[in-house]
Amino acid sequence: MKTQSIVSIATLSKQDILSLLREAEWFENHPNSKILDGKVVATLFFEPSTRTRLSFETAVNRLGGRIIGFSDPAATSTSKGETLKDTIKMVSNYVDLIVMRHYLEGAAQYATEVTDIPVINAGDGAHQHPSQTMLDLYSIYKTQGRLDDITVTMVGDLKYGRTVHSLLQALSHFRVKFRFVACDELRMPREFIDFCETQGIDYCESTDFSEDIINDTDILYMTRVQRERFVDLAEYERVKDLYTLHNAMLGGSRENLRILHPLPRVNEINVDVDDNPKAYYFQQARNGLFARQAMICRCLGINPMNQFK
Ligand code: CP
Repeated sequence: MKTQSIVSIATLSKQDILSLLREAEWFENHPNSKILDGKVVATLFFEPSTRTRLSFETAVNRLGGRIIGFSDPAATSTSKGETLKDTIKMVSNYVDLIVMRHYLEGAAQYATEVTDIPVINAGDGAHQHPSQTMLDLYSIYKTQGRLDDITVTMVGDLKYGRTVHSLLQALSHFRVKFRFVACDELRMPREFIDFCETQGIDYCESTDFSEDIINDTDILYMTRVQRERFVDLAEYERVKDLYTLHNAMLGGSRENLRILHPLPRVNEINVDVDDNPKAYYFQQARNGLFARQAMICRCLGINPMNQFK
């Protein structure tokens, strides 16, 4: 298998996605297989992260590889004026794979253009977060038993939320109905509405987070209003608390409903939901370990199932 970068979920075919999901399932049963012995992976985080960085690092550690990297760019030569290009070229001298989060949209694509080693985009601005999408798909598959014939309701910051953009693109390979719940300021961007239109995807938009919508949903995907993406903080203050899920709103929901959230949450899911068996966001984050193990191996050209036949 050849090495490859994963910058956008849009570059993965339905077959790619399905085989990554099978491999994630395999890793869930074999999380400590030492198949990265001798490999070194860099995690370069120019933006804050808890889950993505730590689960990528755990994924590598459990597979027997080694990690270098940083979570505070101020402690690197970036603070002396070193360019992203030079940073990527330097790190490429030392490692087999780069996992990078950056605040600029397009930064991961740019990184692939200045290095010969594979790059995984761990989030670039409001653009893409493909490893989050893979763990979201894995979570949907695990909880629903399928990816077809489900209704997904996305709530909150649909404008800046890179996770909802990536998830919508990935689920376009399957028969999924979408409900987009957001205020006017944070509506799903026009390009993604046009995408639904051209792909013949069944969708509707609402500003009202009603129990009728919740009751007609299989996957309720809550998102945080992202303060860091707003130019006008007064606008953030106006919209930040418009949609909060409370346990009392789930009384008429389907038995198979699962509540997902990429996390971190702020106010959009009240803590009284946490003990509801339909709350799945903490297990969802755990699934990230297995989805990321699959992606790391894919990018390094390793088929885990072949290694252990
Ligand atoms: N979901 C997610 O990307 O979380 P972190 O920002 O903590 O990595």
